[in-house]
Amino acid sequence: MSFSIAIDGPAGAGKSTIAKRIAKKMNLIYVDTGAMYRAMGIHLIRCGIGPQDEAAISRECANADITIKYENGEQVVYLNGENVNPILRTEEVGSMASACSVFKDVRAKLVQLQQKLASEVDVIMDGRDIGTVVLPNASLKVYLTASVDVRAKRRYDELIAKGEEWDLDKIKAEIAERDHRDMTRENSPLRQAEDAILVDSSDMTIDEVVDAIIKLCEGKR
Ligand code: DC
Repeated sequence: MSFSIAIDGPAGAGKSTIAKRIAKKMNLIYVDTGAMYRAMGIHLIRCGIGPQDEAAISRECANADITIKYENGEQVVYLNGENVNPILRTEEVGSMASACSVFKDVRAKLVQLQQKLASEVDVIMDGRDIGTVVLPNASLKVYLTASVDVRAKRRYDELIAKGEEWDLDKIKAEIAERDHRDMTRENSPLRQAEDAILVDSSDMTIDEVVDAIIKLCEGKR
């Protein structure tokens, strides 16, 4: 069986930054599953489908050919043959990704792709349902979280550094809304798997979290 690390947690907990660093240090393939839901979100936005129109979303789901390639060590997401990496990270796309991810047809399609990837190589995979649904037998499961205030401030600093103007309270409200939707949906809600280890990064540096998770892997590989 291949080695795998599952990292779940809410938006802004630092999952992708931390998973990327661990992937480099441990020679694992980093699989960003949120990017797959975002690619689906782009497809639906382009088709002009409303975020609650389950019938249309299920129908269009079949027309979204999402594939993953690794180029220079980076995950590249292709949507119907187009590299969509440069347009994945907008608030509009994140919000549509969260909205469409509540539907079972969307989840079934992307979970299948994620499980296939993990069966072929050693991975560190992050998302919302990795430890609970995608990789129930992962070698290590981590539930990475931080307070809403800390997560909102991190996101705010990121946007300000990019030269964008944002209101901290608005970001906090959006994060709280996304948490609520991801945690209360019927299909594969975000929750800590019973055998996952809780890591609260509110008062930890990135390096401290990376070191803590690598330590948890000792003896498992
Ligand atoms: O991690 P992210 O912000 O890129 O994810 C975008 C949305 O996709 C998130 O709000 C919920 C959904 N998602 C999911 O339902 N399951 C996953 N494994 C990953 C993401």
